[in-house]
Amino acid sequence: MKITVVGTGYVGLVSGVCFSEFGFDVTCIDNNKSKITDLQRGKVPIYEDDLERLMTKNMHAGRLFFTSDTGAGVKDADLVFIAVGTPSKSDGSADLSYIYGAVGDLAPHIRKDATLVIKSTVPVGTTRAIKNFLLKKGVDVEVAFNPEFLREGAAVADFLRPDRIILGVESIKAEKALARAYRPLYMLSIPILFTGLETAELSKYAANAFLAMKVTFINEIANLCEKCGADVQEVAHAIGLDKRIGELFLQAGPGYGGSCFPKDTCALSTFAKEFGVETPLVDETIKSNNERRSKMIKKIMDACHNDVKNKNVAVLGVTFKANTDDMRDSPSISIVDYLLKEGARVKIYDPSFSEQAKNIFKGVYWSTTVYDNCNDADIVVILTDWAEFRAVNLRELRRRVRNPLLVDLRNIYTVPEVKATGFVYHSVGRSLLNE
Ligand code: UGA
Repeated sequence: MKITVVGTGYVGLVSGVCFSEFGFDVTCIDNNKSKITDLQRGKVPIYEDDLERLMTKNMHAGRLFFTSDTGAGVKDADLVFIAVGTPSKSDGSADLSYIYGAVGDLAPHIRKDATLVIKSTVPVGTTRAIKNFLLKKGVDVEVAFNPEFLREGAAVADFLRPDRIILGVESIKAEKALARAYRPLYMLSIPILFTGLETAELSKYAANAFLAMKVTFINEIANLCEKCGADVQEVAHAIGLDKRIGELFLQAGPGYGGSCFPKDTCALSTFAKEFGVETPLVDETIKSNNERRSKMIKKIMDACHNDVKNKNVAVLGVTFKANTDDMRDSPSISIVDYLLKEGARVKIYDPSFSEQAKNIFKGVYWSTTVYDNCNDADIVVILTDWAEFRAVNLRELRRRVRNPLLVDLRNIYTVPEVKATGFVYHSVGRSLLNE
């Protein structure tokens, strides 16, 4: 079976590499020629655990190819996956121009017996609209929708061992082609659900919106914990042990960011309205998450008695979460900007050494270790939950800072362990009585 993947971003590249790991011949297409040249040389453009190893292995095995020539990449494929971006437009809706651009480009080349599979996250109705778009061009191929549930930083593991696969299809032919592509997962007893196109499309948005709501819910409970003497981590553990709730995605923090939750919650709310349906819970999630950033700024400023002018602020972690170099919609952006505007001298250490971050933050200093970053700091602020921060020797850190003040927006440490080192400690959702 020959598989082609159009788009070599997080989703497309990981999917292409992992399908080749399943043993299929895979061609990945991207119209960015320099990216394709890098990929042909084995250079992985994203920060993703285990991707480079699998990519190199499968290129050497002769079953993974990269090209910017759409015709050559598509003409022999049995399955063509579309995995291009669907970013937010200014009105919150999903921008489908890349997807229609890609489908238009491949239309003259796709085989009549091939199946075109949309993997990009698209509003309900889009896959059917793409089918009609192709029919108008005289191209009658099967279409299907196959949402991705890959977390950045764990995308390879999520692809190779997913919780489930959802396949929106309209014919036995498409069902058979996709069942073949995911056959290695059948052997692992991973649930594979065949649904209609609309169900598969909505399942993707519903999953992300639900998880975004879960994060927002625990952040709201964290606010209450701070006032009433409770500890949000213990509350999260206590409720999470109820199987109906589950423990995952109950980590309080600075609010969700990234390229998915913010974009997908807005798109869901927007296209639901087009169907005449209100989604007040999703709307409130978006609003509450936006407000969370100001709350976090207030927490930092309160800890510094509203004065950061000429103070050394040591920021630890700026990516939207750990194990990625992705800065898209990271809570750190508004927080660091605010501190700079207030006259702080900001030093940043992020284990990904994110180039994106270097392009975003101007007028900051960059460090190569946690300890160097905290030399002479008046305040240390943790914004991302990198595992490396958990192993930090707090006594050593205490020796290096000028003023022992630690604001931890990811609850990396326990209150007693930090207090024992002499730091004044502010975290999230733990009673102020403890701080
Ligand atoms: C998310 C979903 O988890 C994936 O299943 C989905 O495929 C992907 O979006 C997508 O649509 O492409 P991702 O954006 O990589 O994946 O990141 P998550 O690990 O889900 O985290 C999202 C945000 O929530 C981060 O800012 C993270 O810090 C925050 N978060 C997550 C919390 O604040 N607390 C938690 O307990 C969990």
